[in-house]
Amino acid sequence: MNRPTMDHPAIAGIEACPSLAALLPVPVAAMRCTIPLAGASLWPSEEAAIAQAVAKRRDEFTAGRACARHCLIELGLEPAPIPVGEMGMPLWPDGVTGSITHSDGIAMAVALRDGAVRSLGIDIEPASSVTDAMHAIVLTPAERDALPPQDRAIAATALFAAKEAFYKAQFPISRRFVDYREVGVELAEGRFSVQVQSDIPSIGAAGQRFDGRWCMLDGHVLTAIAL
Ligand SMILES: CC(C)(COP(=O)(O)OP(=O)(O)OC[C@H]1O[C@@H](n2cnc3c(N)ncnc32)[C@H](O)[C@@H]1OP(=O)(O)O)[C@@H](O)C(=O)NCCC(=O)NCCS
Repeated sequence: MNRPTMDHPAIAGIEACPSLAALLPVPVAAMRCTIPLAGASLWPSEEAAIAQAVAKRRDEFTAGRACARHCLIELGLEPAPIPVGEMGMPLWPDGVTGSITHSDGIAMAVALRDGAVRSLGIDIEPASSVTDAMHAIVLTPAERDALPPQDRAIAATALFAAKEAFYKAQFPISRRFVDYREVGVELAEGRFSVQVQSDIPSIGAAGQRFDGRWCMLDGHVLTAIAL
């Protein structure tokens, strides 16, 4: 992969994230930064999407876009705008697929040139952020029953983050909203398996499984999946 050059110098505060890249089965550009990211700016077509946003939202959006743009440079491409598309999905330049996430002071992005996989999804959540009160909304009865007595909140958060990563990967293909309880996730050490419970157009029939990986990183749960 290419590295920042004289034409496209590295932005201070953005760094490669090998832990994130290692979660995916194909080589990707993976970048992270803290939020807010000093010196980061938006392209005009990106500005439009957050013109009315509060400062916190603006900061996370800008940091995520900076990581995403740095992924393009890592892939040997020219920096380009990544506007907001249907239902919030990022519109990557032609020939590129990727995903963006941000949470609690960290922003991340991954990208690769089309070909190896159809789509990528990543998600980061503060560890233990999914409380018992949220289980009925984001977990299926089977997932709730399978929660371990120890590290229960971390496991619940990993299930949740696995679903959000899967959602971000599947949406650009299916263009369908999929609720948390329409997929079932089984968790193992560093891995997860998403099973769709109903047919999702262009993704899979009910019962089909998709495998992803997860890890703990700086007090967060990080998930990634490629479709
Ligand atoms: C869209 C959603 C997944 C975002 O997750 P989140 O934890 O709230 O926020 P994150 O910071 O991790 O991710 C936000 C980024 O996801 C990306 N994103 C948002 N909507 C998207 C979509 N429809 N498709 C792909 N990526 C999307 C965007 O890049 C966004 O950042 P940006 O607005 O700054 O560009 C979540 O808000 C949501 O709506 N979930 C409901 C659906 C779901 O998760 N179902 C699970 C079963 S499949």
